[in-house]
Amino acid sequence: MSSVSFVPFKTYVVGGAVRDMLLGLPVKDRDHVVVGATPGQMQAQGFVPVGKDFPVFLHPETHEEYALARTERKIAPGYTGFAFHAAPEVSLEQDLQRRDLTINAIAIDSDGSLIDPCGGQSDLQKKIFRHVAPAFAEDPVRILRLARFAARFTEFRVAAETLALMQQMVQAGEVDALVPERVWQELARGMMETQPSRMFAVLRDCGALARILPELDALAIDQQVYKQLMSAVDGAARLHHALAIRFAVLLQDVPPGEAAAAAICARLKVPKEVRDLALMAAREQRLIAGAAAMDAAAIVSLLERCDAFRKPARFLDCLTVVQCKYGELGDAGKTHAPLLATALSAAQAVPAGQLAAAVSAQYSDQLSTRIPQAIQAARIAAVAQALQ
Ligand code: CTP
Repeated sequence: MSSVSFVPFKTYVVGGAVRDMLLGLPVKDRDHVVVGATPGQMQAQGFVPVGKDFPVFLHPETHEEYALARTERKIAPGYTGFAFHAAPEVSLEQDLQRRDLTINAIAIDSDGSLIDPCGGQSDLQKKIFRHVAPAFAEDPVRILRLARFAARFTEFRVAAETLALMQQMVQAGEVDALVPERVWQELARGMMETQPSRMFAVLRDCGALARILPELDALAIDQQVYKQLMSAVDGAARLHHALAIRFAVLLQDVPPGEAAAAAICARLKVPKEVRDLALMAAREQRLIAGAAAMDAAAIVSLLERCDAFRKPARFLDCLTVVQCKYGELGDAGKTHAPLLATALSAAQAVPAGQLAAAVSAQYSDQLSTRIPQAIQAARIAAVAQALQ
């Protein structure tokens, strides 16, 4: 730090790092606010500018982020419609006032003293998500952020006035202005938290779920179905499953199956590998759950449809998705995963290359049908034997 120790401005650690430290959690990224500096002074001290929209710099040695204290004002709908004002005279308190939640609006100075003008410590103790100011409503991403925090900080609840504000925001159409990439980013992060069902509960309570995932919201008409789905999603989180598995579990029950899942994935611009698993699970879940009643030919055709010979790991993930759902329902489907995994190993062990060579040696015509037929027949025989 020697090169910047004489800086004429003050810096504070703010946001999630302070919140997590006060909660006794490990701190990942530390964000800093700089008060009393101009961009020119920052660069003269060796800070590297990185901000596209805001004046943000990287520390020359630690590479941590330093943002000039700023105020923000909404000038257009959507999450990019902001005018910001960053100047040496903007105070730390002003910068804290523009933040989303009181628990995210606490600062620590270089002596370790806390600056907490919004009551963040008290809300941390009371375990409450409370908005700092009415300007919360200027950024609809904050609804998704709060919902995602609810999935992480599972003992926290939303302050009544904050929920009321979020409901107003949804009614005013704020959530509809969000770009799909941003919605997906926040949903994906929330799905990876400890208890994703809490994110969906907050989104439902404020009405946002009906805007961003109306298909899921509609499922809640049947409380029993919705509850089972949410516990399946939480179960997948408890087992630390990957995002693709958790998301596929979420979409499994959305009627009418694959087409609905495809529509959701297209609307939210869900990444391909996440989408592919979700669609496969939506399409095949019933068949997979009833695998005990399938014969070897039906199993091999399932494996082919799922491209399981080229992508075995994805097929096994699909079994896990179905397991997460049926695991919640008690005994049903308990045996399908081991059975199909055994079938896959047996079918994989068929030496397809050798068979192709043998068919080519024996016949000179119609190889493009003869070879796949021979491989398929051998796989069916192998599966039948393995499942005896
Ligand atoms: N912030 C905000 N409104 C937003 C995004 C961020 O007020 N829409 C403020 C909050 O004070 C937040 C800080 O910027 O604490 C840093 O944001 P970010 O790093 O995105 O989130 P964290 O709160 O650090 O949370 P996480 O642990 O998920 O990174």
